[in-house]
Amino acid sequence: MTKKFLTIVIAMSLGLAFSSVFAQEAVRIDASKRGTDISPYIYGQFIEHLGRCIYGGIWSEMLEDRKFHDSLVGQHSVWHVRGDAWLRMNATEPFVGKHSPELLNDNNEPFGLVQNGLRLVPNKKYVGYVWAKPSDSIDLHVVIDSVKDRKVLKEMRLDPPTVTDEKGFRRYAFEFQTNDSVTDTEDFSFGIIGIGKGSLRIGTASLMPGDNVKGMRPDVLALLKELDSPVYRWPGGNFVSGYDWNDGIGDRDRRPPRKNPAWRGIEHNDFGLDEFMVFCDYLKTEPYIAVNSGAGDMSNAVAELEYANGSADTSQGKRRAANGHPDPYKVKFWGIGNEMYGDWQIGHMPVEKYAEKHNRFAEAFRKADPNAVLVAVGDTGRWDETIMRRCANHMDLISEHFYVGWQLKPDTPLLKHIYDIPANIKRITDAQRKYRKEFPELKGKDIRIAMDEWNYWYGPEHFGELGTRYFVKDGLGIAAGLHEYFRNSDIVYMANYAQTVNVIGCIKTSKTRAQFETTGLVLKLYRQQYGTVPLFAELAKPLDASAALTADGKTLTVGIVNPTDKESVLKFDVSDLTLAKECRRFEIAGKDPMEHNDPNQPQKIDIVETTEPFDTAKVKVAPYSVTLFKVGVVVP
Ligand code: AHR
Repeated sequence: MTKKFLTIVIAMSLGLAFSSVFAQEAVRIDASKRGTDISPYIYGQFIEHLGRCIYGGIWSEMLEDRKFHDSLVGQHSVWHVRGDAWLRMNATEPFVGKHSPELLNDNNEPFGLVQNGLRLVPNKKYVGYVWAKPSDSIDLHVVIDSVKDRKVLKEMRLDPPTVTDEKGFRRYAFEFQTNDSVTDTEDFSFGIIGIGKGSLRIGTASLMPGDNVKGMRPDVLALLKELDSPVYRWPGGNFVSGYDWNDGIGDRDRRPPRKNPAWRGIEHNDFGLDEFMVFCDYLKTEPYIAVNSGAGDMSNAVAELEYANGSADTSQGKRRAANGHPDPYKVKFWGIGNEMYGDWQIGHMPVEKYAEKHNRFAEAFRKADPNAVLVAVGDTGRWDETIMRRCANHMDLISEHFYVGWQLKPDTPLLKHIYDIPANIKRITDAQRKYRKEFPELKGKDIRIAMDEWNYWYGPEHFGELGTRYFVKDGLGIAAGLHEYFRNSDIVYMANYAQTVNVIGCIKTSKTRAQFETTGLVLKLYRQQYGTVPLFAELAKPLDASAALTADGKTLTVGIVNPTDKESVLKFDVSDLTLAKECRRFEIAGKDPMEHNDPNQPQKIDIVETTEPFDTAKVKVAPYSVTLFKVGVVVP
């Protein structure tokens, strides 16, 4: 290469480099200006009985409608009849729920109930059982075959167990192992098949991978462990306003299946309060239970509190002990109701009436458990103005919700898309600050915010009901939202990203795989790496910065959101701290704002960690990125 040519190449690349570099901006950080410590609970999560959040997400059950809630007629039924048997739904003596299937067969052909859509992975053990009552003349089998060509993968003849229940049903257990001939892209059927003439009644069935963790999916739990959220709100959401918690305790197979009171699907009642506590225990997270103040009444809600927290000699504590949990769960956070201001909410009522209902619930809760932290339903404007004034003595936290999405259009500018998240947080915190100043009832009180539902919610449902997808631009908005919580750490006590798995979730699953969305990566990154002592930080828009020291004061953490298509070279202007010359750098970036992950594909977006020299005069952040820097503080 000639010298002249080399000079041209260098000049061209410099030119290119400069044209793609944003003008240098300064991040001003002042360590002498510190905010209130950031509450760990702002990394909270929310799970609701809706879509594929719990069933088809967290819970390992592979069969749909395993208790036969639906009537097995019509094209939408997940079960269908195989063979020539006659089917009726026996409502006189159901095994569980309002009816159970009964097949009558008068020929020698195999017959039974079959469900398609099963996905299996190679070299895995599966465990299951069927509660059934066949005539003595019938042999019971479980058959797994390919939907495509009916090729049988497994056929198991089930020996009758000796024990029957009071209705004459027996629990037939089975297990099988796949080899490497199966792939998780092939659809299999699961069949409960009788051979012989006579009647076959089926109570319920179950099929789970053998490595389930107390009924939960290990791949989903592994990601939840990484997310490391310190608190989970459960069971709703709109669901809770029609939920009877009694349906969700006791023998799982005998709990009644119901139509989800607020959403499209079936509530199988396989995951109830005790399972939620097992989930929290496994994740080492705190439970936050919302009670039904919609259709539900106060005594049933107080009974729920007693079931969770009462000693084993209280009437509800006895039930809990009988269900295998003698020790009280000591649940601290209790939400009284959900969005009772909205006409979509079961039991919705005018605020004046609801304020009285709330206070009655709160008095009974405080009496039953003086340690309970009570969260009241809030909504900025007239609803909050009434609740904050009339219920101030009956709550510890005020719940607020917001979703960005309804107002978004395909042509919404990117910056609006991203910064609508912090704008909503500011709108709500500003309103609460105003109430504090204006309402004498709040004098001397410190009722902080539990933003117990916040997120984006828009776009097509790829992952079941409300299973919308998230993109790089949404990850950037969630990071900007966290920055706004840090700026308001004096008034935001808790925030629960809504929701967790599949349903507007930061984790998405297929039947056999799970993966973080961009939003989940951001939540995980900040929870794991960001400091807890907020410092004053400033950076001109369109970028956004926040800074905090770790609790021991030894590390400065700085988060930067770059929503532009240009790399940005920033100058860090840090007062009151001397910094090390090396940093750890964590980056979540996309080639364009619409890049996204998908559990059916290899993961595209991830957190990329590097250790590199740290020069305050030249800190680079990539286009469409969230970058978190960790720099040691040098003690003089
Ligand atoms: O998170 C989905 C729904 O949004 C919740 O059920 C409800 O509380 C809110 O309106």
